[in-house]
Amino acid sequence: MIKIFLLILIVFNFVYGAKVVPVGEKYQSSRSCKSCHMHIVKEWESSWHSKSHYENDEYFRASIDYVSRKTRKSINSVKVQCATCHNPRISVTNTDMDYEIMSVMNLDKGSQVNKALESASIGEGVNCVVCHNIDVIHADKDESFRGMNRVSWTKSGTMTGPYHDATSPYHQAEHRDFMDKNSEQLCFVCHANDTSTEGFTFINMQNEYKKSDASCVECHMGQKKSLYAATLPMKDGKPRKREIRAHGFVGAHTSGMWKNVLNLELSQKGQNILINIANPQPHNIPSGFGARELLVEIVYKNGDKNIVTKTLSLTNQYLSKKGKPTIPHMAASLVKEMSIPARGEKTLEVPKEKGATSAEVKVYYRLVNDEVRSMLDLKEAIWREKSFITSKSLQLK
Ligand code: HEC
Ligand code: HEC
Ligand code: HEC
Ligand code: HEC
Ligand code: HEC
Repeated sequence: MIKIFLLILIVFNFVYGAKVVPVGEKYQSSRSCKSCHMHIVKEWESSWHSKSHYENDEYFRASIDYVSRKTRKSINSVKVQCATCHNPRISVTNTDMDYEIMSVMNLDKGSQVNKALESASIGEGVNCVVCHNIDVIHADKDESFRGMNRVSWTKSGTMTGPYHDATSPYHQAEHRDFMDKNSEQLCFVCHANDTSTEGFTFINMQNEYKKSDASCVECHMGQKKSLYAATLPMKDGKPRKREIRAHGFVGAHTSGMWKNVLNLELSQKGQNILINIANPQPHNIPSGFGARELLVEIVYKNGDKNIVTKTLSLTNQYLSKKGKPTIPHMAASLVKEMSIPARGEKTLEVPKEKGATSAEVKVYYRLVNDEVRSMLDLKEAIWREKSFITSKSLQLK
């Protein structure tokens, strides 16, 4: 009986497992796109997609270490697992027990897995040939299939893009709907169903999403501008004018972007202050990665004098299967959903302080809450910094 079950599992895996298509050397690095798409490469370099390899993101690297330590899996196996979305052009898609044994015995050097992880071709994380080599998005697959498991790749050298009539001397060009009309499908290849080692889905942007007039690209790649997709001169000696968007994928890591993202209203109810936070965006805030945080700072004043400051944290806390606080990637459960829902609101009620004649409320965003930051011992300043969102004052009766 067990044998039959195993056999079915293996066949199933074979049918649904990600198919690796090697990327030709000519296309592996964004450097090779620079001569004709310099501005796009520059913008992408400033984006966090370019930092999605563990070498370039302290938080990601520390999370991998933590998962490896706690699950007693080799660090390379965890890297391969996370590569599904962070490095989807990797040439191995899973590791097995044999590899774990080799790794414990220090015999893994030179193995296929180690070679795949050391390959220069994945050092750029989510780069050009991740998005522009997607041939088909299998949106009909079970929603747990994400990243490399949700797509088929084009043959090396064929770039899929938003145009119907692009030609390039360097590569083939083909139009795809998910590069213009249905670009949300492209983002949901990875920005959905982030699931822990316990099988707990801690973020599902696709489920929380309340579609608005704007799609992901309009807010995170900006409005279309009349410029050049490629600066290579065409037949008439001039590059072709096109409608293009920016490749900065600006988001949570850009502090200045947080200003006025949420709306704040204050009122008094008896001896309490009501703090209403409304989120006009089509996805939850915070969303994205699981340990993001909103800080609500309340400064109680008497005249011009500050009496006392209190800070509330709105963040999702996760528990391991033993019921201990843990990082999202090891979570078995969530204590309470704390984020402000997509196009929704939350109201907090706090008592008025004695002697206060007014209160000033400030709302900030932080990439990592205190608990997870100290669990992972993150050192870089960016994880501690607060991004200002909005503030308001209320005269107290
Ligand atoms: C996360 C996915 C993603 C990555 C990574 C990415 N692109 Fe794009 N790219 C898109 C999307 C989506 C569009 C279509 C934008 C639109 O017009 O709505 C696009 C459009 C383009 C276009 C057409 C002109 C334009 O800006 O609309 C070119 C050329 C292009 N990308 C080149 C590149 C190069 C070169 C890189 C690497 C430096 C890159 N892309 C990385 C998603 C991506
Ligand atoms: C020698 C110049 C050259 C190089 C190098 C080059 N491209 Fe292009 N690319 C072009 C031209 C020309 C176009 C067509 C532009 C147009 O029609 O407006 C184009 C179009 C594209 C498009 C849009 C395709 C569509 O159908 O919408 C994508 C995506 C793209 N390139 C990606 C890349 C990537 C990724 C690289 C690096 C691996 C790269 N290109 C290297 C010249 C180049
Ligand atoms: C192949 C997987 C993949 C695809 C497809 C993808 N992303 Fe991402 N995206 C990531 C990963 C991984 C990160 C986190 C990188 C990091 O922080 O190290 C990320 C980060 C981001 C961020 C956060 C930036 C910040 O500063 O916080 C934004 C915004 C974003 N992506 C938007 C998009 C949009 C819009 C699309 C669709 C056009 C898209 N992504 C498609 C994997 C993907
Ligand atoms: C109407 C505009 C809008 C649309 C549409 C939109 N976003 Fe956002 N998103 C925002 C704003 C505003 C923020 C806050 C940070 C910032 O300004 O970039 C944000 C933040 C994010 C973050 C970081 C979240 C966090 O709390 O850390 C990610 C990831 C992201 N968006 C991805 C997406 C994806 C994927 C889509 C499409 C499914 C999308 N967004 C659609 C406006 C939008
Ligand atoms: C289903 C696709 C997917 C898988 C698999 C995945 N991630 Fe991510 N991860 C993302 C996306 C998308 C983001 C960006 C969300 C955002 O910026 O808000 C992200 C962001 C992160 C961040 C935040 C980085 C930053 O700069 O703030 C960490 C940490 C992280 N992932 C750890 C991991 C670890 C560890 C694994 C493997 C155990 C993993 N991820 C597997 C999609 C995935």
